[in-house]
Amino acid sequence: MEVLILNGSPKGKYSITLQTSLYLEKKFPQHKFRFLHVGKHIKSLEKDFSAVVQAITRAHLIIFSYPVYTFIAPSQLHRFVELLKASGLNLSGKFVTQITTSKHFLM
Ligand SMILES: Cc1cc2nc3c(=O)[nH]c(=O)nc-3n(C[C@H](O)[C@H](O)[C@H](O)COP(=O)(O)O)c2cc1C
Repeated sequence: MEVLILNGSPKGKYSITLQTSLYLEKKFPQHKFRFLHVGKHIKSLEKDFSAVVQAITRAHLIIFSYPVYTFIAPSQLHRFVELLKASGLNLSGKFVTQITTSKHFLM
């Protein structure tokens, strides 16, 4: 199965949330994991969304991976979802889930 990780953290490969998917990749070596750092690269995705279209088309399972920033998902991920909707991509038949992290904000 091809698993696509859409990393919404603006920290890219340094994302803490991403560590869970990296663990899953190690735990299930029979599946192919691909990673797109959509939060970090949102500005270039606004210009060219084709890499996302290609990756989503190939994926069987899509995992949105993102932190909570100021009580909601990062603005970069919100923008990504706008671009995804505008692309008109059909996600029917795909499995989609999410992994998110947060910690002790305001404490
Ligand atoms: C700017 C900023 C805002 C945050 N806002 C929240 C918040 O509202 N609630 C919360 O529980 N954690 C908040 N956090 C903590 C992050 O959710 C937490 O550190 C998360 O694991 C970071 O994930 P990442 O490394 O994948 O980006 C915030 C962190 C930052 C840097």
